[in-house]
Amino acid sequence: MSRIKIYDTTLRDGEQSPGVNLNKLEKLEIAKQLERLGVDIMEAGFPASSEGDFKAVKLIADTIKDTSVTALARTTKSDIDTAWEALKGAAEPRLHLFLATSPIHMKYKLLMTPEQVVEQSVNMVKYAKQKFPQIEWSAEDATRSDWDFLAQIIEKVIDAGATVINLPDTTGYSTPAEYGRMFHFIRETVPNIDKVSLSCHCHNDLGMAVANSISAVENGVTQVEGTINGIGERAGNAALEEVAVALKIRSDFYPYETGLKLNEIKRSSDLIAKLTGMYVQANKAVIGRNAYAHESGIHQDGVLKNTETYEIITPELVGVSSNTLFLGKHSGRHAFKDKVLEFGIELTDEQIKDAFKQFKQLTDHKKEVTDDDIYTIIMEIKTEA
Ligand code: KIV
Ligand code: ZN
Repeated sequence: MSRIKIYDTTLRDGEQSPGVNLNKLEKLEIAKQLERLGVDIMEAGFPASSEGDFKAVKLIADTIKDTSVTALARTTKSDIDTAWEALKGAAEPRLHLFLATSPIHMKYKLLMTPEQVVEQSVNMVKYAKQKFPQIEWSAEDATRSDWDFLAQIIEKVIDAGATVINLPDTTGYSTPAEYGRMFHFIRETVPNIDKVSLSCHCHNDLGMAVANSISAVENGVTQVEGTINGIGERAGNAALEEVAVALKIRSDFYPYETGLKLNEIKRSSDLIAKLTGMYVQANKAVIGRNAYAHESGIHQDGVLKNTETYEIITPELVGVSSNTLFLGKHSGRHAFKDKVLEFGIELTDEQIKDAFKQFKQLTDHKKEVTDDDIYTIIMEIKTEA
């Protein structure tokens, strides 16, 4: 099994979600939970972006010792110096430098020629190398960049001292086949590529961030970047819990493993949802409220006989205490009978039939039938007898 590193950017790219604003202590609480979760690297913020971010990165770098802490910087001396001041207390200071390489970003955002982008990247990697042993260099908007240009600049920043090359799908524009092919091309074309690790960083604008990340791994990437619950700019980043669980569940097919303690996923997801105010959609893969809930009679019957009939992930794997049989209009008598037994109330077969009929009538009028509703029905039948 090859070990895939998990690079968490919940505190940096995740915090870029519109409306999210975490204070220093909330960030530290999340950082501690990410350490318990076992991420390999956490990106704690963007120190040059604000005084608050600087302080939060510094606090995290000074506190977290079992996980490598990194931070983002533009390719300027002052950003790099500020990042160093924030990170120098870290167990292993590591810098994340980025500069855009796509024609649209170079022309309209940076107002720079491709030659200037190469020169600035190389110079700033060299500058940062005087302090940071580990430097990740990201080609922002890599997936809309010219692949030959990418190959040229990557070769040069590796020579300048970069240790990780990240090719982000900044706008969530790529597809699994294309994103994988880009990494394959870079590995085939750049002569010194074996000196560095390759990293992927996917946004979810077309809903493909997790699939793109898995495709990158299939094409030689050994570090996956993303966030817990998939939070982030616009439609978010690749959801790390989905990537890690997919690799675990499909280890029959993929020879990759991560170091995540999967049973810490639920706790991490809940904490981040609570502190960011970005609640997880009910049907979200791996961690949504309905991910281990079964409503239809046929499914409930199957799960009661053998959970594997409809569950490919056991809830315990990700720290969810158990599955739930949701009683709604599609539910069958088996699950209903189980619920009656759960209440510890004995009913005759005739009474169960009657209660089940009343329950079904209620589901036609009420979106969610609660345990209290069911209890009331049962007790009425019981006391009528
Ligand atoms: O999406 C992106 O391109 C980024 C970079 C800063 C790496 O977040
Ligand atoms: Zn990003």
